[in-house]
Amino acid sequence: MILVTGGTGLVGSHLLFELVSGGRKVRALKREISNTDLVKRLFQWYSPEDGEKLFESIEWAEGDLNDIFSLKDAMQDIRHIYHCAAMVSFMPEDRQMMMKANVEGTANLVNVALDSNIEKFCHCSSVAALGMPQKDNIIHESLVWKTSKKNSWYAISKYGSEREVWRASEEGLPVVIVNPSVVIGPGDPARSSAQLYQSVKNGMKFYTSGVTGFVDARDVASVMVSLTESDIINQRFVLSSEDLSYQELFSLFAYYSGAKPPRYRAGRFLSELAWRLERMRSFITGQKPLLSKETARNANIKRYFKNTKIKEALDIDFRPVREAAENTSLFFRKYPVYLSPDFRMPS
Ligand SMILES: NC(=O)c1ccc[n+]([C@@H]2O[C@H](COP(=O)([O-])OP(=O)(O)OC[C@H]3O[C@@H](n4cnc5c(N)ncnc54)[C@H](OP(=O)(O)O)[C@@H]3O)[C@@H](O)[C@H]2O)c1
Repeated sequence: MILVTGGTGLVGSHLLFELVSGGRKVRALKREISNTDLVKRLFQWYSPEDGEKLFESIEWAEGDLNDIFSLKDAMQDIRHIYHCAAMVSFMPEDRQMMMKANVEGTANLVNVALDSNIEKFCHCSSVAALGMPQKDNIIHESLVWKTSKKNSWYAISKYGSEREVWRASEEGLPVVIVNPSVVIGPGDPARSSAQLYQSVKNGMKFYTSGVTGFVDARDVASVMVSLTESDIINQRFVLSSEDLSYQELFSLFAYYSGAKPPRYRAGRFLSELAWRLERMRSFITGQKPLLSKETARNANIKRYFKNTKIKEALDIDFRPVREAAENTSLFFRKYPVYLSPDFRMPS
């Protein structure tokens, strides 16, 4: 039996589909507040005939990364663990909660795994955990993390959680780690990278000059499974298909969704102004800011990603980002309810 954490998220829901549609028996950890509605939709989207049946075959176990007893219960009779649960946020006020879920939560999970005869632990890390590149701005697996004021709290928490996994590997847990770039696919548009599509669909007028890597959620899922079922252990792999400017990504989303692409370039000055104004609006209205200092600054940075290690290890190629954008747009065209400003995931 396989255990998946974060199964209700963007990466985890695609992973659940990949595992279950391949005939594997899966238990998925979910919190009391988690909502599985979108996971079911996603299964129906990828398999209109069998989706519902496949979804029903998942055994849901209630638990939380910060509740060790629930992790012990969930890990009964488990051979492989896929760890996709994490808090993804660039808001400074989420810092403590994020460190608790991502670093302490991962430490809890690997500690229980070390006591539970787990054959392989697959950790979904992030390119954010790899550290700052040299002058060439190329990100790859051999980069060494450096403490810097430029590291976001999200990056620090992902680095901390990856360290816990490496520590467990030294204590005897066979691990494999993936470091995806920005993941594109249908998911809750209120969180994680799925918010990018929502912004374009809502008629966002500005784009920034930054460049980054993007990868299809379906590819992340299938690579995680192939790595976990292979003999490869104690290695990490960058998962990234192509480097695109934000303008290029937004144009793809606009093209497939029928929205107008953002027209105006927001340079450094405008981005700096935008996050400050957004902070003020949040202070006055009490609502969460839509943009943080970290997201505004990252959006103007140009980063390039080397994906040769995973391509050679598994002899694979990634889907072009165009396909990921098309898949995401078609999903939301079929289920527009998730994009409605009044829609809230029931809990
Ligand atoms: N999206 C990207 O572009 C991207 C890129 C690189 C790496 N990653 C990594 O991929 C992983 C998944 O990200 P995602 O985009 O799928 O995020 P997501 O859509 O926000 O999903 C996060 C998942 O984590 C669960 N979770 C959060 N805190 C938890 C806790 N304390 N205990 C148990 N479950 C908890 C959430 O459960 P609820 O449903 O209950 O909230 C949800 O299932 C993360 O490790 C992230 O760092 C993501």
